[in-house]
Amino acid sequence: MSLISVNHFSKYYTVYKKEPGFMGSVKSLLVRKYEEVKAVDDISFSVESGELIGFIGPNGAGKTTTLKSLTGLLYPTKGEVSVLGYTPFERKHAFLKEISLVMGQKNQLLWDLPAIDSFILNKEMYGIADKTFKSQLNELTELLDVKAFLEIPIRKLSLGQRMKMELIGALIHNPKVLFLDEPTIGLDVVVQKNLREFIAEYNKKYEATILLTSHYMKDVEALCKRVIMINHGKILFDGELSKLIEQYAPTKEVSAVLGNKISEKDIVKIGEVKRYLAPQITLRIPRAHIGDAVKKLIEIGNVEDLSVQDPDIEDVIRDIFSAKNPQES
Ligand SMILES: Nc1ncnc2c1ncn2[C@@H]1O[C@H](COP(=O)(O)OP(=O)(O)OP(=O)(O)O)[C@@H](O)[C@H]1O
Ligand SMILES: [Mg+2]
Repeated sequence: MSLISVNHFSKYYTVYKKEPGFMGSVKSLLVRKYEEVKAVDDISFSVESGELIGFIGPNGAGKTTTLKSLTGLLYPTKGEVSVLGYTPFERKHAFLKEISLVMGQKNQLLWDLPAIDSFILNKEMYGIADKTFKSQLNELTELLDVKAFLEIPIRKLSLGQRMKMELIGALIHNPKVLFLDEPTIGLDVVVQKNLREFIAEYNKKYEATILLTSHYMKDVEALCKRVIMINHGKILFDGELSKLIEQYAPTKEVSAVLGNKISEKDIVKIGEVKRYLAPQITLRIPRAHIGDAVKKLIEIGNVEDLSVQDPDIEDVIRDIFSAKNPQES
C-alpha cells in the first residue's frame, strides 16, 4: 500500500458573496448569497515511502488546501485521503506524531518566547524522551547553524533564523512524513540554499517522505525528481520534472558565437530567433531538428562556440500558467 493515497479528492469552500456597492450591502443583509469555490477538484495521486515531491502551481491553484487536507486540518468535501494508513482529519495522536506541516507564511512557534521554550513544549506534547530530545535538538541546531539563537525570543530573530527554528520545531519529534508549504519564501538565496540542503539531508537520512510546495523553481529543481503540477484545483501533470519540460517545452535553445555575420533573413530559415546580439545568437529549435539546425549554423555561420540547452524551467512554468501553452485549457 502507498504511504499517501489520495482518491478522487475534492475540497470546496463556501464563500459568501456580496453584490458591489452600498445597495449590495443592504441587500446582503436580507438575502445572503453563497458561492462554491472548487479549491481542489477531483484529484488522485499516491506517494511511496521516501519520495520527495514538488507541488507546483500558480497562486490559488489548491496546493495549500491539499497539504492542509493531508494533515487533517481540513475535511474533504468528496473522496478519500489516507496518510500512513490513517484518515488525517481524525487527527489521532499516533498520526500527529508521525507527521509535520511547516508553513513558510505562518508562525507556529510562540512569538514572545525563545525557540527553546517552544521546543520543550513540543517535547512534552509528543512525549519525547530526554535523551532523544537532546540529541535531536543538537543535531538540528548544528545542521542549521542556529545554536546561538535558541535563547532569544522568536520576534527578535531574522526571517531566515525564524524559519530555521520553525523547521526544528516541526522536526523535533522526528516525523516520517513532512509537508512543507513554501518553506523558503522571502529568504535570501544563501539561506534558501541552506534550507534546500537541509531538506535533502533530512529526506535521505531518515528516509522521510516529503511533499513540498514552492514558487521558486530552484527549490523544485534541486530537490524533487517528481512533480505534481496543479492549476484550478486539477492535476495537469504528475511525473518526472524532466518529462514535464519535454512535454511542455517542445523546443531547446541553441546558442552560438558566430564568426561570420549572417543576415537575420538567413537565420530565421534555421529557427526562431530568441536573441541576436552579434556575434552571439540564441535560437529556439524543435527537439527533433536540433542536429539539422546545428549543422546549418556551422555551415553558414563559422561557429566559434556552441551550446544546446533546455529552456529555463522558470520560463516554461510561466508559459504554462499564463495559458500561452495550448495544452492547458
Ligand atoms: N478558507 C477559505 N475560504 C474560502 N476560499 C478559500 C479558503 N482558502 C483558500 N480558498 C480558495 O481556494 C483556492 C485555493 O487556495 P490555496 O490556498 O489552496 O491555493 P495555493 O495553491 O496554496 O495558492 P498560493 O500559491 O497562493 O499559496 C483559492 O481560490 C482560494 O481563494
Ligand atoms: Mg498556498
